[in-house]
Amino acid sequence: MSGSEAFEEIVAALNYPMFVITTKGATDDDETAAGCLVGFASQTSINPPRFLVGLSKRNHTFRIAEHSTHLAVHVLSRKHLEIAQLFGSETGDEVDKFARCAWEAGPLGLPILTDASAWFVGRILERFDVGDHVGHLLEPTDGDAADVSRDWVSFADVRDLAPGHEA
Ligand SMILES: Cc1cc2nc3c(=O)[nH]c(=O)nc-3n(C[C@H](O)[C@H](O)[C@H](O)COP(=O)(O)O)c2cc1C
Repeated sequence: MSGSEAFEEIVAALNYPMFVITTKGATDDDETAAGCLVGFASQTSINPPRFLVGLSKRNHTFRIAEHSTHLAVHVLSRKHLEIAQLFGSETGDEVDKFARCAWEAGPLGLPILTDASAWFVGRILERFDVGDHVGHLLEPTDGDAADVSRDWVSFADVRDLAPGHEA
């Protein structure tokens, strides 16, 4: 078995949390909202706290995030699986996802999803080209985890979803 074959087998077998990442246009008067479902995301440091989000270069969300200073990272409870489906299977190039879910403008005007069980906003410290995705290194600046769910949406819940954009 080659290294890449082993890698494919391993990543297909793993389960991990899924997040909905949202962002908005760069200027105060630019209210363009964007967001997508993301599995390529992980804490990378404890002190200082750091979190890396991989956004596909094909995604509408990536193109809006290119000009943004911050991203919002949402954790979803499985009782709101429909939010993960909306953000993972539709593209902002074709539909307004924010007309199909409840949200409000949070810190810096970022769209915060009402049905998320917890969220944080992170300032984008650095961007790295990591292949067909771009890594966004975040410094958490704000958030709410009062109701964080232990029954969060994972890869196993959404692995059969057809993405709005192919990676
Ligand atoms: C299981 C699964 C995992 C995904 N992981 C990522 C990811 O880590 N990063 C990413 O940018 N898109 C990921 N996507 C794809 C986007 O969520 C999807 O293409 C979305 O429709 C893009 O929306 P947008 O064009 O409005 O940004 C994933 C989709 C699925 C179904």
